Amino acid sequence: MLAGMSRIERLLSRMTLAEKLGQLTMTAAHHATTGPVIAGDSTEAIRSGAIGNLLNLVGADSVHELQRVAVEESRLGIPLLIGFDVLHGHRIQFPIPLGETAVFDPGVWERTAREAAREATADGLALTFAPMLDVSRDPRWGRSAEGPGEDPFVAARLAQAKVRGFQGARLAAADAIAACAKHYCAYGPVTAGRDYASVDISERTLHEVHLPPFEAAVRAGVATIMPAFTDLAGVPMTAHRPLLRGHLRERLGFEGVLISDYNAIAELMRHGIAADLAEAAALALEAGIDIDMMSDAFRRGLPEALRRRRARMADIDAAVRRVLRLKERLGLFADPYRRGARPEPAAVLRRRRRMAREVAARAMVLLQNEADVLPLPPGISRIAVIGPLADAPAEMRGPWSAAAGNEGHVSVLQGLREAFPRARIEHAAGVPLREVEEAGIEAAAALCDGAEVIILCVGEAAGMSGEAASRTQLGLPGSQPRLARAVFERARARGIPVITVLFSGRPLIVPELVEHSAALIAAWFPGSEAGSAIADLLTGRRSPEGRTPLSWPRQAGQIPVFFGQRPSGRPAHPDDGFTSKYLDSPNEPQFPFGHGLTYGRFEHSDLVVNPARVRPTSRLRIRLTVRNTGRRTATDTVFLFARDPLASVARPLLELKGFTKVRLRPGERRRIDMTLAAAELRFHGASLEPVWEPGEVEILAGPCADRRRLQSTKVQLLPSASRK
Ligand code: NOJ
Repeated sequence: MLAGMSRIERLLSRMTLAEKLGQLTMTAAHHATTGPVIAGDSTEAIRSGAIGNLLNLVGADSVHELQRVAVEESRLGIPLLIGFDVLHGHRIQFPIPLGETAVFDPGVWERTAREAAREATADGLALTFAPMLDVSRDPRWGRSAEGPGEDPFVAARLAQAKVRGFQGARLAAADAIAACAKHYCAYGPVTAGRDYASVDISERTLHEVHLPPFEAAVRAGVATIMPAFTDLAGVPMTAHRPLLRGHLRERLGFEGVLISDYNAIAELMRHGIAADLAEAAALALEAGIDIDMMSDAFRRGLPEALRRRRARMADIDAAVRRVLRLKERLGLFADPYRRGARPEPAAVLRRRRRMAREVAARAMVLLQNEADVLPLPPGISRIAVIGPLADAPAEMRGPWSAAAGNEGHVSVLQGLREAFPRARIEHAAGVPLREVEEAGIEAAAALCDGAEVIILCVGEAAGMSGEAASRTQLGLPGSQPRLARAVFERARARGIPVITVLFSGRPLIVPELVEHSAALIAAWFPGSEAGSAIADLLTGRRSPEGRTPLSWPRQAGQIPVFFGQRPSGRPAHPDDGFTSKYLDSPNEPQFPFGHGLTYGRFEHSDLVVNPARVRPTSRLRIRLTVRNTGRRTATDTVFLFARDPLASVARPLLELKGFTKVRLRPGERRRIDMTLAAAELRFHGASLEPVWEPGEVEILAGPCADRRRLQSTKVQLLPSASRK
């Protein structure tokens, strides 16, 4: 009788309500704690069909054992979907996502996701809660570390690369993992940079800045999406019917699974839009959520909501279908043990380590390098390595590294000892990472005497960025400023250059480091190969190439500072008080978006854009000459911007439209070629629909978002259809 039905329909027709709700439930399995500890042991619930999905479980054996319970001992034998936060590598850590963004190379973004997928699937996992796509213009928000920085174009490119990398060519492959675009959407602009706080932004900013990365992820075929914890102008995203069901499903055609964030459905009560769990569950289901992570609201609330006629069985069935369909696409029905069937060979792990080292080095941003103090001369014989992050291998992993363990990560000290085997290398932490404790400062400073160079390793603790890690002050924590001052004084007195390596999950406001360091490197949290990668840059084995994906503020009071601001009617003017500026600080950031030095020296010239008159169907060809006038081979990053000076709606002062990289030997010059679909010059008009407005648009290209450093030319946008 059921012969003609698909597996999913057959299962659905046999499922009890409790079994259906089990498929819509995801519970923690306690390998890692990534939120309030809520659930207990889930084995019995899996056996009874009451839980169909897990998070925070790793290790092929543990995964397979619970999978066996689900498949062999539950009535319907439906395999589990098991997810984990694989944000920047799994066991072997790549740089934190913000750092990886700084590489500005979609190929790298995709490859690291592919490697993370291989490693996570070898651990039995089938779902990662990544990529995190929240555009952030507020470094007070600790989650800036997990995301793509300030720009929506970058975030959209990252989204595509990550989805491709995680999911591979075929979701059913044993090394493919379902991606989860999160946190949909506009989580970045939380009030005052405080995590989980309310969000209230304009519809325009929503459409121009926060939706595009998710739209790109959907176009790339992302399997799942996680709504943000936050509300948007009073409507929590977990219950945001217009943005979930309306925009994602109906408008973009997203057919994948919507997974709530951790306990987010129950939190609808705290948001003040649901009186009890039944109502919270009904609101989330109605908005389009398929899987309830950790609230247990669907299991406990939906039966009551059905009784009250606040929820519809048809919505439950539709959600169950989507979950089962995902399990089917992942190949879990065909073989629930395909992921984690065999451990990865040692050679694969070695290759991955090499990649982690390469990407970490490419992610670091050389913020300054006075008198070319870097790279260090090969014969250097005495180095002082000072600071609480010099010998802190576990910190190097950064936030979201639960599967990586504390061991096996390379500290700066270890990396330098390997790179300079004959040098005398002295080390003192000087101060603890976070506490106020100054006893060790004098001795640490004294250790610098006689050194040819001082490597000062300071910054945040890994746990100071990521979730629930907002800060109001963005300086060095604890007694590190005192340590830095003592080291700088000593260094100045002895004429020793200080190379500062700054570790952080966000731009830190460190004017004293900028002023006194001969060289300053933003290393982010570089991951498992941190120390080796830093040594590669310091020795010149590699030239730095990272570019900051966030404008680097000078003062916390400038936040949010970002390059895509709209013009003011009273632009800052030095001689006019009544213009848009501060009394006590320049408007400009300390370092603009895209800033980052290399060991080469690049000059840009002869920007030409063809054709000069375009219609929406045209393709622009943009050419620019790049020349390396420096003494070392290096990789330049060129950014392409547009500026629409006159439109029906004021357009941002700069809009990013592309970026590319070119590696050049000393003296080498190359004509680089970029293309841009003219349709990308449309914008959201007054009604927020894309419009093409004839007129002149400026096209700019160059090293960063400081417009004084950009080459510029113009194109003429012609009316859409030719008028004869
Ligand atoms: C809460 C975080 O917001 C989310 O990003 C993460 O995936 C889940 N916890 C699971 O750990």
